[in-house]
Amino acid sequence: FQEITLLIQRRHLPPGRYGLPLMGEVPWFVIGNKMNFGAFTAERKKKWGSIFHVSIPFTATIVSEQDDLHWLFQMERKGFVEAAWPSSVAAILGPGAIANVFGEQHRRIRSFFQPWFSPAFVENYLVVVDVTVQEQLNEWSALSSSSTLSSDVFKLFALRLFFAASFGKVDEQMLITFHDNFKTWLGGFISLTGTVRVPGSPFDQAMAARDRILTTIDQVIDQFEKENPEGSDRAQNTVIGRCVYASGEEGLCFDRSQLKDILLNLIFAGHDTTTGAMGSVIYHLAHHAEARAALEEEINNFFSKSTSLDMEKLKSAPILNAIIWETLRVDPPVLAGPRSTRQDLVYKNFRFPKDSSIFYNIYLAATDPNEYKYRPLEFDFRRFLPQDHKLYDPTIWNHKEARDIVDPAQGRANYPIFGGGSRSCLGKHFALLELRVFLVRLFQNYELSVVKETKVWLPICTWNVEFQLTKKTT
Ligand code: HEM
Repeated sequence: FQEITLLIQRRHLPPGRYGLPLMGEVPWFVIGNKMNFGAFTAERKKKWGSIFHVSIPFTATIVSEQDDLHWLFQMERKGFVEAAWPSSVAAILGPGAIANVFGEQHRRIRSFFQPWFSPAFVENYLVVVDVTVQEQLNEWSALSSSSTLSSDVFKLFALRLFFAASFGKVDEQMLITFHDNFKTWLGGFISLTGTVRVPGSPFDQAMAARDRILTTIDQVIDQFEKENPEGSDRAQNTVIGRCVYASGEEGLCFDRSQLKDILLNLIFAGHDTTTGAMGSVIYHLAHHAEARAALEEEINNFFSKSTSLDMEKLKSAPILNAIIWETLRVDPPVLAGPRSTRQDLVYKNFRFPKDSSIFYNIYLAATDPNEYKYRPLEFDFRRFLPQDHKLYDPTIWNHKEARDIVDPAQGRANYPIFGGGSRSCLGKHFALLELRVFLVRLFQNYELSVVKETKVWLPICTWNVEFQLTKKTT
């Protein structure tokens, strides 16, 4: 009788293949699809519909269309579904990380941070981001004269931007050491030994790197406190200042160990994502001469080389923003978000038993042909242009809600690039600021040529590019 019940129940589990014992569908994924997560899941969606399971190697359900994501985010808000990182990732991030707090505690942390990541607050970083970007581009163009640069340079750059925005001055040697430790730390995210510290294993090395990173963060916070007493400009106008001097008035205050975990979580969340977006946008602009020419023309009309940048113009420049939205749509840096059910759930006649793993598939949702009818897999920035723009083309399906996407707070399920529900991206306005300033200063002052490129799918979807920058003569 039990077996019959199981069979009946199983009929209602989402469809999919289980593959080989222990390995699941890994051989198909690695050999057949060359780790191309997009193609692998798209093939399965074609066969099974918008909800299906994959086994790579553990079984997880993929939900992939707008209404499915909407349902999942709703379940999350109700507390029936929670974020679910593997235990090794949770250990590497540390107990105080935002990723490791749930329920009411997570809600309180979010509402504490929300104002400090709002568009208005993020504007405080405009000048420091602009200066850092200009210095960095200058340095790259000098290096470019003798050799090509690879996407790797974006990684140190993203750390530099984060530290400059948070702490002001950046000690170059500290940054380089931090970057080395950070790479080892990231290496432990995929751990075959789980949370067991087998000496020399990537997880073991990552945990050791974590200790070194936290020591550095400790020193940097000490210095911050020394140089920026409570009430000072930087204490008031940076996220780090708000955290260090949080007194409980805004609902929270942090002890040093939690503060360090939170900072590490923020650095992690904003690092590969932003660098991934930089590689992809450079790739698309190198391959779409018309997009690049339109961007350069707009930059010339909107922004002066010699004066500081205006935040409102950065947010409203139509081509600049359309190029960013479209890059993130076709190459979303984060491909999927992991969740786990806290109780049995039923949706679209499928049963999701308690503790089922569900991933919302950002790539499939953002390239869904029902939502993006005009060549959904291809880069065409014009789909995000407003109707009154001279390059607007009515034959290209123009996203009816493009304007809402421009307000990322909406977290639309057909554009879930920054996630959605209770765990949508906290740093999206900061990330957008970095990307906008980067593109404006790059195309204002430099010629770009990409000499080589490789598409990477995991852990972050991006284009690894080799490129050269030459200073424009006029
Ligand atoms: C969460 C994407 C940049 C901080 C997320 C999520 C996505 C995402 C998809 C949701 C993950 C989930 O559902 O589990 C991106 C992309 C970025 C970016 C595409 C750049 C292009 C940043 C930056 C920061 C940041 C620069 C911080 C400075 C966070 C944090 C969370 C998050 C803290 C977790 C929120 C929570 O758990 O409540 N991001 N992100 N992100 N992001 Fe971003």
